[in-house]
Amino acid sequence: MSTNTYDMRRAQLETYFDRTALEAWKRLTSDAPVSAIRATVRAGRDRMRRVLLDWLPSDLTGARVLDAGCGTGALAIEAARRGAHVVAVDVSSALIDLAHSRRPAGINTVEFRVGDMSDEKLGEFDYVVAMDSLIHYSPRDALQSLAAIARRTRRSIVFTFAPLTPALALMHSIGRLFPHGNRAPAIEPHNEHRLRQRLATDEAMAGWRIGRTERVHSGFYTSQALELVRR
Ligand SMILES: C[S@@+](CC[C@H](N)C(=O)[O-])C[C@H]1O[C@@H](n2cnc3c(N)ncnc32)[C@H](O)[C@@H]1O
Repeated sequence: MSTNTYDMRRAQLETYFDRTALEAWKRLTSDAPVSAIRATVRAGRDRMRRVLLDWLPSDLTGARVLDAGCGTGALAIEAARRGAHVVAVDVSSALIDLAHSRRPAGINTVEFRVGDMSDEKLGEFDYVVAMDSLIHYSPRDALQSLAAIARRTRRSIVFTFAPLTPALALMHSIGRLFPHGNRAPAIEPHNEHRLRQRLATDEAMAGWRIGRTERVHSGFYTSQALELVRR
């Protein structure tokens, strides 16, 4: 899948996770001490990972799972422990290297790949998980990426989006008053009602229904999980 805005944003994310944020991300995703603010983010992310994993079958023996935008690979490892063959893809080669180095001994069914999550060469999957990897894309680009993934997915897709809350809308409008500089790529909040409408009316998603949803809020972390299930 490719549009100008999608390609530009993906390139920004690659630079951001490969260089700007690499050390911070490495620390956040480890057990090393972090600031009180980052601890709230770590706790929220741990909770979100559990929610998404809980929505997958506890026995994944024989299933093919795509961890789309896997980062340092924590979710991929858990899915592999349940018996899945996991393809864990990320656009950041530095994060994939880190994920490789963190792979526990004995976990041999995770294939780490550098690339785009919606690349059809990754193959077909039973389940796809995209935790906080679509949050930086516009609703239009995120949906197109999901549609491309959906064509190759047999059972369910669980992904997260940044819900448009009044607090986030305010932060965004304040953010617009300041120059961007070297900051993180912006988060693109989605209005849940509109996202549901888009998913329900997009032809590419015709064979899918919306399942569970859960919002996780922990200090500076807010993200919402949504499940898409094959009809
Ligand atoms: C906020 S991090 C989350 C990482 C991981 N899912 C987790 O929750 O720990 C977002 C990740 O998505 C990756 N990403 C963003 N767009 C991508 C794309 N189009 N294809 C593959 N990876 C992508 C980024 O490089 C980054 O590692």
